[in-house]
Amino acid sequence: MEVIIADDHELATLVADAIERLLRDDSAPVLGLATGSSPLSVYDELTRRHERQGLSFAEVRAFMLDEYVGLPASHPQSYRNVIDTELVSRVDFAEDAVHGLDGMAEDLVAASSDYDHAIAEAGGIDLQILGIGTDGHIAFNEPGSSLASRTRVKTLAHQTRIDNARFFDGNVDRVPQHCLTQGLGTIMEARHLVLIATGGHKAEAVHQMVEGPISSMWPATVMQMHPHATVLVDDAAASRLQLGDYYRQTYASKLDKERF
Ligand code: GLP
Repeated sequence: MEVIIADDHELATLVADAIERLLRDDSAPVLGLATGSSPLSVYDELTRRHERQGLSFAEVRAFMLDEYVGLPASHPQSYRNVIDTELVSRVDFAEDAVHGLDGMAEDLVAASSDYDHAIAEAGGIDLQILGIGTDGHIAFNEPGSSLASRTRVKTLAHQTRIDNARFFDGNVDRVPQHCLTQGLGTIMEARHLVLIATGGHKAEAVHQMVEGPISSMWPATVMQMHPHATVLVDDAAASRLQLGDYYRQTYASKLDKERF
């Protein structure tokens, strides 16, 4: 894994640079989009480049990571609604170019396997944006998830429902109990994984993900097996890294900072 420790503005700029390169170099790019607060500064930066520099998403197809079960797309906290508000409606994606899981599907099992097929038919995901939960989950792959899992229904961990209660008027009982999520095996097929984590509450999860033993107890540790994974963290999220000084030194001496 490549670990980059920088401030929030620099992290957003670096990720936007990687996405911009992909969009300019590839005639049919496929992006993996994440919700949550971690990628928001990246989406703001992409929107800025769209408005001021003509960065276009017209040829991009995108797949979302996960969705709550039981929330209609119109619900303010459905991930479909959130991604529409934070990115899709602000740039120029073609209609139907952004795919999401349907948490209202009658057959959630079929919806999950159809989703894996749709990703494969699109040629796979070129660059997958990720955040991490305080319990080490990526997408909604909670502790105990199979490291080879495919897209499926999961029960949310209590910690995740507490963490996400802030989006539901602070009321944990309003947070859905189930979700649909790309599996860890699905996510690992993306060609480049780009994970952003900021804040001291992520420090233990970041330490485990980068430096801990690979284990389903910390699902993000599976990324240690990926040939091209980049972890971008601020000082607070990096505060428990044993090799923090080494990562800083490596990045400071990097010949081409834009490339990761
Ligand atoms: C949710 C999402 C994850 C996200 C995580 C962290 O549980 N399912 O995809 O990475 O929260 O969220 P945040 O970036 O808001 O800290």
